[in-house]
Amino acid sequence: MRKPFIAGNWKMNTSHQAAKSLASGLVDQIGNVTTVDMAVCPPFVYLQLVAKALGSSNIAFGAQDVYFERNGAFTGEISAEMLKDICCTYVIVGHSERRHVIGETDELINKKLSAAINGGLLPILCVGELHEEREAGKTDEVVVNQLKKGLAGICKERVQAVTIAYEPVWAIGTGKTATSDQAQEVHAMIRKLLAEMYDESIAQELRIQYGGSAKPSNTAELMACPDVDGLLVGGASLKVEDFSAMIKTVE
Ligand code: 13P
Repeated sequence: MRKPFIAGNWKMNTSHQAAKSLASGLVDQIGNVTTVDMAVCPPFVYLQLVAKALGSSNIAFGAQDVYFERNGAFTGEISAEMLKDICCTYVIVGHSERRHVIGETDELINKKLSAAINGGLLPILCVGELHEEREAGKTDEVVVNQLKKGLAGICKERVQAVTIAYEPVWAIGTGKTATSDQAQEVHAMIRKLLAEMYDESIAQELRIQYGGSAKPSNTAELMACPDVDGLLVGGASLKVEDFSAMIKTVE
């Protein structure tokens, strides 16, 4: 049985004070939940204050990006070792905003994923098609390509650290959620691919989150899909009531 995993991606939002009260509010509401793996991913500058606010609760924290080198002359970048040093557990890799806004390639994402695993972090690898790619019937092709390139050179032992997040780009921040049938179809395809790339036991073990306008009102329906093992939540993770409600629904 795969344990549900719900993570909040705060993106470039909050402030010192807002990050602190969001984290403390979540601890009050859901800090003791044990049946769901939970994480929040604040901006880098607020990681440590969020870590402090989360304290010994069951809510872990993650970063939104990582660089693949360990240290050195890479102005503005943060390494997996640095994240591990502040007791960070997770890191999001290959988010669609980094792919499509910042211009990250599958090759760069693969290096980041590998560095994250080597550094002892648990990466969340994001994949997903653009609206025009879905319209052109290319969803599977795009997602398969992103997964094969993203996981290139990652062996069976190392891939166990990874969570996959299927985030259709047209559903992100648009209020337009994929239907549970659309999500299930792609999730099942991803699991089949993992069985081909690795083996059936890895495919059954790895968790696949859905992301894209996930909110309290669609949590139960999405989570009822047999291959949806969790959610990567953007907008709704910025509100204590909404994110807590989603966790309680899954619990
Ligand atoms: P929204 O939930 O705001 O659509 O964002 C999803 C997302 O990109 C999470 O990584």
